[in-house]
Formats: sequence, C-alpha cells, structure tokens
Amino acid sequence: MVYQGSHLLSMKAIGDGHGENSSYFDGWKAYDMNPFDPRHNRGGVIQMGLAENQLSLDLIEEWSKNHPEASICTPAGASQFKRIANFQDYHGLPEFRKAMAQFMGQVRGGKAMFDPDRVVMSGGATGAQETLAFCLANPGEAFLVPSPYYPAFDRDCCWRSGIKLLPIECHSFNDFRLTKEALVAAYNGARRQGICVKGILITNPSNPLGTITDRGTLAMLAAFATEHRIHLVCDEIYAGSVFAKPEYVSIAEVIERDAPRCDRDLIHIVYSLSKDFGLPGFRVGIIYSYNDAVVATARRMSSFGLVSSQTQYFLARMLSDEEFIGRFLRESARRLAARHERFTTGLREVGISCLRGNAGLFSWMDLRHMLREKTTEGEVELWRVIIHKVKLNVSPGASFHCREPGWFRVCHANMDDETMEVALGRIRAFVRQHRQRKVKAWAANEQLRLSLPLRASTYLALSSPMALLSPQSPMVHAAS
Ligand SMILES: Cc1ncc(COP(=O)(O)O)c(C=O)c1O
Repeated sequence: MVYQGSHLLSMKAIGDGHGENSSYFDGWKAYDMNPFDPRHNRGGVIQMGLAENQLSLDLIEEWSKNHPEASICTPAGASQFKRIANFQDYHGLPEFRKAMAQFMGQVRGGKAMFDPDRVVMSGGATGAQETLAFCLANPGEAFLVPSPYYPAFDRDCCWRSGIKLLPIECHSFNDFRLTKEALVAAYNGARRQGICVKGILITNPSNPLGTITDRGTLAMLAAFATEHRIHLVCDEIYAGSVFAKPEYVSIAEVIERDAPRCDRDLIHIVYSLSKDFGLPGFRVGIIYSYNDAVVATARRMSSFGLVSSQTQYFLARMLSDEEFIGRFLRESARRLAARHERFTTGLREVGISCLRGNAGLFSWMDLRHMLREKTTEGEVELWRVIIHKVKLNVSPGASFHCREPGWFRVCHANMDDETMEVALGRIRAFVRQHRQRKVKAWAANEQLRLSLPLRASTYLALSSPMALLSPQSPMVHAAS
C-alpha cells in the first residue's frame, strides 16, 4: 500500500530524507540480485561498495574463544547474567566507559587522553552523528563538510534533525586537501544565503579518500571554530585503520598540544567500533565531547540508541586487554597495508592510479581518462558499465558529492584474497577491452536503466521484506 500524499504518516516518514530512492543504490540492487560466490556463482557481482573490515575478525574470534568468561551466555560467564541482563543505566557500564576511554587513547598512539566520564554511547557512529546534529543545531542551520564526503551523512545528520549540510569543495589538484580558502569561501557563501552555520564536520581519516588530515589543518580548523563560535565535529571512525606513514593525528591530540587556546567546548569526536574492529553489527558508537552540556544532553538522548549491556560487558573485557589490543592493531594495520598494496599495484599495472592513501578500507580510484565525456553523466555511464558488464559494485564519486567526474571509491577489505584477485582480473580485462574501444560500443548499445525492471524490484521486496530497511539494506551498504 502506498501512503504517499496521504496524512496517515508524518511528512518526514513519507519524505525521501532516508536517501534510499537514489539511483546510486542500483549497484547494490545489482549485487543483491546476483552476488558473487567463489564456489557457486563466479559470474556474480563482486561487492566493492561496502566499507567493511573482514581482514582481522579471526583475531577477535580467537580472543573470544580464549575468554569464555567475557560472555554472560557461557558457563564461565553465567554468574554475571542477572546483573548484566538487568542493567539499563544510560550512563553505561562504568567498566565499559573506562575501557573505551583507554582504548581510544591506545588507538591514537597514546598521544591523547580520554576521560571515561565524557564517553557517551550511541547506536554506531550513525546514531552519534544524529545525536550531535540534534544537540548542536536547529532545523535549517548548517554544518560545513569537506567534499567528497560519506553519503550517509545526508541521512544521519539531516533526515530527522532537519539541519543542512553544505559542502566545502575540495579538488584533485591538491589531492582534495581542505584549505582555509575553501573553508572561508563555503562559510561566506552560506552566510550570503542567510544560512546560519553552526559547525564544521570532518572525517579523519577520510571516507572516501583514505587520507588523513594533517596537524596544521586540524589546528586551523580548531582556530576557525573558536574565532567564529561554531562547532568542530571530527568523525574518527577510521582512526585505528591507518596502515602507513604519515602518522595519524587526532583532534584530541591537537587541542592538547597544538591549539591549547582553542575553545574546547566547541570540539566533539565521533568514534565507533564498526570499522577498526570490523564489528558494525555490535552497533557501538561513541560521542566524546569536551562540552559538559553536550555530554549531559547527548547522554539523555542516548536512551534512544543504547549499546546492549551484553555487548558492553564483552567489550569492556576485550578492550581492557591492552596486550591483545596492541597486537590486534599492529596486525590489522599490517593486513590492511598488504591488501592496499596488492590492490593498488594490480591497478597500476593496467594504468589505473589511485589517490595516495594511507588509511581506511578503500581506494579512491581515478578513472577520469576512461570517461567518454567529463561530466556527471559520463561518470554514471562508465559506472553502469562497471556494474553491469564488469560486475563490480563500486561507488561513483558523485554519490560522495565529488564535483570532479571520474573518481570512484573501491572497497577492498570486505573480501578474501581470492575474490580480490577475481576483481583485479576483471578490471584488467575491462581495461584491455576499453583500449580496444569495445566498451564504448557497450555503453552506446546497452539500455542501462536507472531503475530495475518491475519484476526485479518485486522480487527484492518479496524475497526480503526487510531488504530496504535493515542494516543489511542497499541503502546502508551503499553509504557505508
Ligand atoms: C565516516 C563514517 N561515519 C559513520 C559511519 C557509520 O558507522 P556505524 O556503522 O558505526 O554507524 C561510516 C560507515 O561507513 C563512515 O564511513
């Protein structure tokens, strides 16, 4: 039944702030209809649109086997069952907040300290972003965000809170670095339109670029925020996924060492265990704010998205095992580096370059030379060929609000070595064919539609009624 236009549901409920109607989810649909499987479906679509870290989960599994007492559902841990099952304080288990604060310091190389009393829980970084948007801005007010940026920010920050995101445009000529000039231009542009800017939102390390923000830029942002009395929100969800030099610098370190005069009440960090640990299913997100009022309000709001006490209990034990965490972070960085090296070398061999990255679960691939025309339409045309003919679900730059056509984000940590080699093999064959000009004929002849045929969408809806709603939905994945 379609409720569009009726008054049964709220305007927000029937609006499309959820972002699921975007044509960019077609890649996800193509994958859902025909997923690659190394044994049963070698011709299927390979999922390269999902920023998921599957490279080191075996280490966590092993820790959990060796520590049955960390689970309240084993004979070794059952004595805690009643206490944990009844626990519902939205402050969170004290031991969880303590372990999380200690871990956040460890992930940042011990160069910043975190206070357990400032750790506020949320349902993943998704919930954290939404809570901060609620706490920091009124509907119609805006955050400035360097582009390209994580597409689901449009949903997380704007859909329910009603705030706006305005891009700070960054460009390939300086490797998409954020400059003061670009920031000032965006800030002044918003003010000329009469929009009240309440904050700057950055992701460090960046999704989709896989690069880190340097110390000087972070200090500049903190100074700008202080001067203009606006907030600085730093999403550091990939802080533990930096696998090569230069070293990672967190805003926490910058305000302690480099910008001691900045107004700390304006600084807020978002973190989560979804990426560095590969635990998106645990839904563990953190708001770490230096502002007491924000901590108090966010904590009250956290009732809407608490982390299950069972998960808190398990993680409190795992995160406080400093020896294991140190080993995990080193091994995870080693595996991420190896995967990144193999993938980007494989691309380089066929003449495809990527932005030089040292973090994250993906590469920002430059296919500008393969566009038939240097427009968003040209990018979408090439993207559709990659999805439907090469059978790789990659994400086009336009979905990250990138203004320069021809960039694509390709995730490579969500698969095993064999699948990645198949993907590289397909890219090689595609480049060869492209050189022989066959692809142009494909693109011209093929009626690549924006939406699936009716039959296919019906199949999706019927086979999985939650397909478009659950965390497994194309929407969530495409945005991951
Ligand atoms: C920059 C960024 N922030 C937030 C999220 C959402 O993470 P979570 O699973 O913790 O909600 C993602 C997921 O891809 C992300 O890349």
